[in-house]
Amino acid sequence: LGHVRLTLGRRGPLAGRRVVVSAGGTREPLDPVRFISNYSSGKQGFALAQAALDRGADVTLVSAPTALPTPIGAKRVDVNTAAEMAPAVLAASAEADALIMAAAVADFRPAQAAGQKIKKTAAPGIHIELEKTVDILAAVAEARDRTHKPPVVVGFAAESQNVVENARDKVRRKKLSLIVANDITAADAGFSVDTNRVTLVDATGGVETLPLLTKAQVADAVLERVEAWLR
Ligand code: CTP
Repeated sequence: LGHVRLTLGRRGPLAGRRVVVSAGGTREPLDPVRFISNYSSGKQGFALAQAALDRGADVTLVSAPTALPTPIGAKRVDVNTAAEMAPAVLAASAEADALIMAAAVADFRPAQAAGQKIKKTAAPGIHIELEKTVDILAAVAEARDRTHKPPVVVGFAAESQNVVENARDKVRRKKLSLIVANDITAADAGFSVDTNRVTLVDATGGVETLPLLTKAQVADAVLERVEAWLR
């Protein structure tokens, strides 16, 4: 089916366009066997990659660890940490027409990853010091000021309150074309499930709340907007 989709999409509206999608939750190591991560399944990011392929785009999928199969035709770059995802996304975006940052990048990581497994006999309890990770979208915005590439950048926002206000603020701060905001308090949306409930907020101030959709339908809606921005 993936090969059929790739063939049918070849002359689609994004033929000849390069689209980079990031997906999944990064893993930030504590020691050789443990990490800090989040509930991201990668499903929305992989659906976006498939939707871009369906439209004929040349797709690079920068993925944190997930159990999902690679959409046929996507060039997959596997990463673990935010520090690994940053250069992979920057390199792929340098020549891209659009970047869609669907990955749930850890905002913090352990300040030190132990070289050896931390033993439970080490202490009565341990304290983990966290430090900020690199903000990948901020790094992309900085590169973009110089190169004007990629012309379209889409971000995601996981919010638990004031969804539209926070999304508007992020569009401005991260210099995005569009943000896809999830209300993570809804049981039928967000992490792990196959459906999503999103509000699209764009750089011109447009706000559009979509009904409950499958992640594939959300991906189609986002790719339609990417197409429009590129036109
Ligand atoms: N993101 C990123 N680099 C990070 C963290 C997040 O590029 N280190 C991207 C995500 O992929 C997403 C967007 O930034 O597209 C929004 O992430 P979010 O964590 O919601 O935004 P923050 O600005 O970090 O704000 P908050 O304080 O709400 O976490």
